[in-house]
Amino acid sequence: MLSNQAGDGKRASLHGHWSSRMAFILAVTGSAVGLGNIWKFPYIAGQNGGGAFVLVYLICVVVIGMPVMMSEILIGRRGRRNPIATMELLGREEGSSPHWRLLGALGVLAGVLILSYYSVIAGWTLAYIVKSASGVFDGASAAAVGDEFGGFVGSWQLVLFCHSLFMALTVFVVARGVEGGLERAVRFMVPALLILMLMLLGYSINSGFFGQGLAFMFTPDWSKLTWLSVLAALGQAFFTLSIGMGAIMAYGAYLPEETSIPNASAAVVGADTAIAMLAGLAIFPLVFANGLDPADGPGLVFDTLPLAFGQMAGGVFFSTVFFLLLSFAAWTSAIGLMEPAVAWVVEHLNQSRAQASIFVGGSIWILGVGSVLSFNLLSDVTFLAGTIFDNIDYLTSNIMLPLAGLLITVFAGWVMCRNSTADELGGSGLVYKVWRLLARYVAPVGILLVLYNTVT
Ligand code: PFF
Repeated sequence: MLSNQAGDGKRASLHGHWSSRMAFILAVTGSAVGLGNIWKFPYIAGQNGGGAFVLVYLICVVVIGMPVMMSEILIGRRGRRNPIATMELLGREEGSSPHWRLLGALGVLAGVLILSYYSVIAGWTLAYIVKSASGVFDGASAAAVGDEFGGFVGSWQLVLFCHSLFMALTVFVVARGVEGGLERAVRFMVPALLILMLMLLGYSINSGFFGQGLAFMFTPDWSKLTWLSVLAALGQAFFTLSIGMGAIMAYGAYLPEETSIPNASAAVVGADTAIAMLAGLAIFPLVFANGLDPADGPGLVFDTLPLAFGQMAGGVFFSTVFFLLLSFAAWTSAIGLMEPAVAWVVEHLNQSRAQASIFVGGSIWILGVGSVLSFNLLSDVTFLAGTIFDNIDYLTSNIMLPLAGLLITVFAGWVMCRNSTADELGGSGLVYKVWRLLARYVAPVGILLVLYNTVT
């Protein structure tokens, strides 16, 4: 394994170096930027009272998300295999146990569960491309836009059809493994999404309610903060950064030795957080301008943004492009969610990539039917965290991802020896010291504290 450990001193060609680093950042950004930023962040922030939640979320991103992401990448690069095999190998190599592979398995399971509902929401965005293009939102009132959404999710047939279409698209790409094309898509998609978000922000600034939206997002009302909303903020930080799942570990396995892990992580975390903040800043002023409820739930984006586009010149075009881009963003994330399970089936059940993709995709599709029905036929069937959709979301984002994140930081911070981690993180300078402090103490203690306080 020494060949993997000669971290520095090698000089790749400038072009090769740049393009590999870029490819990595694009792939991870493609996975991170998705429905979590534009659909989930605003509605979770709205349900948890805004300001204080947003602040806790930002703290979680910096003091827990960053070190977990760096840890996942460094573990991935050190092991150079799929997450389960990497954890097993490093567990042995670092003098601990091969059972660390169970951590990889937890990630595979989380990915399957998350994708089962992610695909349903991504299906909504597909439907909204068609709705936008047909002009139904052109000049529509808040009530009309709300009715359109209610009517759509109320139809289990339509939602099931869109879920099926999105899963088919995902299986198609994963089966063929066309990473090259995806990278090109991300290269164009993230900047284009940013431009459209800025346009929406411009609209919101002029809505007359920008101050109110800003205050809602950034004025903390600590009385609204409960341990449950702290857990929601922590879960959202994991979900939006795609960490705690082994997905980033898998990407890290292909990272060239000379790429700086702290810099790459900072770029991804920065881009992801910027898009979530822009989404919030675009949406909340519209919520207040139209007398809507910030705690509206999963329909928030679908009730507000079409309204804004409907008032703009060229709105039909921009709205169509926006939902197209959002579907693309969901697609690049969905591929990352499915890949670990497919890789596992290929290796352990000895199937071809195409067979494995169809098998995994089919299983996820079936699981997704529970979430499809959560918005219509079974919307009244609630237990624990709410509907079937709510429960799968809660279990994955708020329990499985943080738990895996905790174990990842324990592994990188306590099990791996100092030499191994310093080698991967470019020496033991200040950045390394800060990472180690966060990975050994702040992140694990923070996660434990939140989990403990929400179960007791
Ligand atoms: N980060 C994605 C989003 O914000 O939409 C969701 C996600 C993708 C989570 C891939 C986990 C993952 F592995």
